[in-house]
Amino acid sequence: MPSALSASHLGKVYPHASGDAAALDDLSLEVPTGRTYGLIGRNGAGKTTFVRIASTQLAPSSGRVEILGLEAGRDDRAIRLRIACVPQESRPLYFLRVEEVVYLYLKLRGIAAVEARRRTREILDELSLADVRTRLVSRLSGGQRRRTMCAMVLASDAEILFLDEPTTGLDPIARREVWQAIRRTSREHRTILLTTHYLDEVEALSSRLALLEKGRLVLEGTPADLRARVRFPYRVTVQGPIPRAELDSYGRVSEIEGGFLVFTKEAAARELARRALEVGARLSMGPVSLEDVFLEVVGRSIEEEPAADDGEEAWA
Ligand SMILES: Nc1ncnc2c1ncn2[C@@H]1O[C@H](COP(=O)(O)OP(=O)(O)O)[C@@H](O)[C@H]1O
Ligand SMILES: [Mg+2]
Repeated sequence: MPSALSASHLGKVYPHASGDAAALDDLSLEVPTGRTYGLIGRNGAGKTTFVRIASTQLAPSSGRVEILGLEAGRDDRAIRLRIACVPQESRPLYFLRVEEVVYLYLKLRGIAAVEARRRTREILDELSLADVRTRLVSRLSGGQRRRTMCAMVLASDAEILFLDEPTTGLDPIARREVWQAIRRTSREHRTILLTTHYLDEVEALSSRLALLEKGRLVLEGTPADLRARVRFPYRVTVQGPIPRAELDSYGRVSEIEGGFLVFTKEAAARELARRALEVGARLSMGPVSLEDVFLEVVGRSIEEEPAADDGEEAWA
């Protein structure tokens, strides 16, 4: 099946950007049809810039994007009928009621009244917004507004959905409800491009993902591919009488609360487990998390803001 979205050699330099760093630098990727594709990276990595270009809201400085076989910049009207977007930090129209704003959005997209009413009811139930369905958007909490925004887009019939940090600011229960709705949407064979800096979120939802740093594609593949790409694919925690100097021979060691964390290879992890049994140390072992992969590849945590000397400012 052809890709839902295909970006080749995308570059973007904003006019008046501080420094000369490009927001996107020769970025190429293919988003398969009917899946959820995750785009991860720290603040300022270029995720929103990519989403804006791929959803025809912003022209790239170089390169091209093909969406559903159509060309961005040339076929924008045709593309926009088939995509939907939750922009970062967007909020629904504040002077409407929750059910009105969802219904109106669906009607404007050309869905017949009866069907739009049914979809509105279902999505408000699914995202636990039924209780506030007659409340004015202006009277909602920030999280309820964000959920309403997600409701509009997830209830639509768009073939590609762009969700730019859809769950930022939601409580853990609301986040999981949005996840459920995303899973349902993906079961309907629609394509979702999800950006987030919650690594558990991409892990739970995406079949493939891309890691961006400073506008460049650093890693791409399934979550398992990404894990296999690091030097030490196993993480082992050890609490007990094995000295640090000995642990150092197994891989990369760091101190954690009450013990040590060792990143290591598979054979060494097994060896270390045997050793821990012998001396009665407590041990837990598993594949590295995406957080670990991120840290190893980028050299910093995904939560860490770009430093001022990165030649870029943080862009929320
Ligand atoms: N409108 C703009 N004008 C100038 N620079 C911008 C603009 N939008 C984003 N940038 C810069 O482009 C880079 C990428 O930003 P963005 O795409 O928002 O990243 P992310 O969504 O990953 O946080 C950052 O260095 C940011 O400062
Ligand atoms: Mg962003």
